[in-house]
Amino acid sequence: MGRKKLLTVLVAATLALSMVGCGSSGGSDSGSTSSVANKDKPLCWFNRQPSNSSTGELDMDALNYNKDTYYVGFDANQGAELQGQMVLDYIKENAATIDRNGDGVIGYVLAIGDIGHNDSIARTRGVRSALGTGVDANGAIDSTPAGTNVDGSAKVVQDATLDVDGKTYTIRELASQEMKNSAGATWDAATAGNAIGTWTASFGDQIDVVVSNNDGMGMSMFNAWAKDNKVPTFGYDANSDAVAAIAEGYGGTISQHADVQAYLTLRVLRNALDGVDIDTGIGTPDDAGNCLTEGEDYRYSEEERSYYALNIAVTADNYQDFTDSTKVYSKVSNQLDAGKSPSKKVWLDIYNASDNFLSSTYQPLLQNYDKLLNLEVDYIGGDGQTESNITNRLGNPGEYDAFAINMVKTDNASSYTSLLSK
Ligand code: BGC
Repeated sequence: MGRKKLLTVLVAATLALSMVGCGSSGGSDSGSTSSVANKDKPLCWFNRQPSNSSTGELDMDALNYNKDTYYVGFDANQGAELQGQMVLDYIKENAATIDRNGDGVIGYVLAIGDIGHNDSIARTRGVRSALGTGVDANGAIDSTPAGTNVDGSAKVVQDATLDVDGKTYTIRELASQEMKNSAGATWDAATAGNAIGTWTASFGDQIDVVVSNNDGMGMSMFNAWAKDNKVPTFGYDANSDAVAAIAEGYGGTISQHADVQAYLTLRVLRNALDGVDIDTGIGTPDDAGNCLTEGEDYRYSEEERSYYALNIAVTADNYQDFTDSTKVYSKVSNQLDAGKSPSKKVWLDIYNASDNFLSSTYQPLLQNYDKLLNLEVDYIGGDGQTESNITNRLGNPGEYDAFAINMVKTDNASSYTSLLSK
């Protein structure tokens, strides 16, 4: 940030502080003059858990960077199981009509987000596991994209059988592919839209179900082909547009409780900044009455330093309750007292400013909670491709009281912590 911009920020921060007024301990609370070393400031990783992108092994150095470091995400395995079960339930209930060309094979295609992303891997496994199409690879279900598998000969998946009402169907993963564009961006909705075009041009009549690792790609395939052809499409994230599409034949989605995650992302920073117990306003009510329900809304793993929001299936049965994905969760919607929790500055990045879920659901939620928690957040949007595009904008960490980080690649935590440790 240039000097002029810095000055503007300082003036704005001072103004904001003087307007907050009551009870705050004055100018020294504004982030820019904080005396805490950057390496000791609260840090929250979110959405992309520091981990080895090939093995999934957690990066415990990053998760234990300092005593106020946490990760906030959601329970990827529980959500993946739910997604698989949702698709299976739908197939069972609609078995009589779902096989469009009547060949006895219920064929699905699968859009994979990012082969190195834990959430994406879990969802691919969850769907293959529930449908019986998964094969074992080193003790877990293989999550490798199958490419095209119209003849059922692929090695990374297998044909499954399903008995419904005395009839036996074959279930086949006809095709799956990582939706990465030529510039390297993953979870790419446009790529998914193109892929469904290619697939349907050669074996469209065999596709009975469309499944996607997320709603961004799912909606792209739905709008490009599945909607007109009345083929149920299943995604993940419960973005508002996908939930609305359930009325038009979108099969269903999973809410990863982004309202809980966005709250937790900022709440762990708030608690650390206030020097209160980390469970405040999370499992224990705060003074304003904010409190979540452990086991229902989230679970916490002390060992992994991680909060995981719990997922809910959203289908034709309940979608009316999920139409606005950016609404704050009522249990944690109370304004904090600025006397006890004075204004603080947070640096927060979104790895890809055009990521569907993060930009249309997560960031608007963060922007609702930042006010409730008296946090002044600078939102930095990355290009989704290179870490340096984001880290270049963390040039002056001394201006901030806390950091919330969404990495491009889960292996790259040290690109950020090295800047804080300088
Ligand atoms: C979401 C995806 C999103 C990804 C970004 C996942 O949890 O489901 O939609 O693209 O996070 O990291």
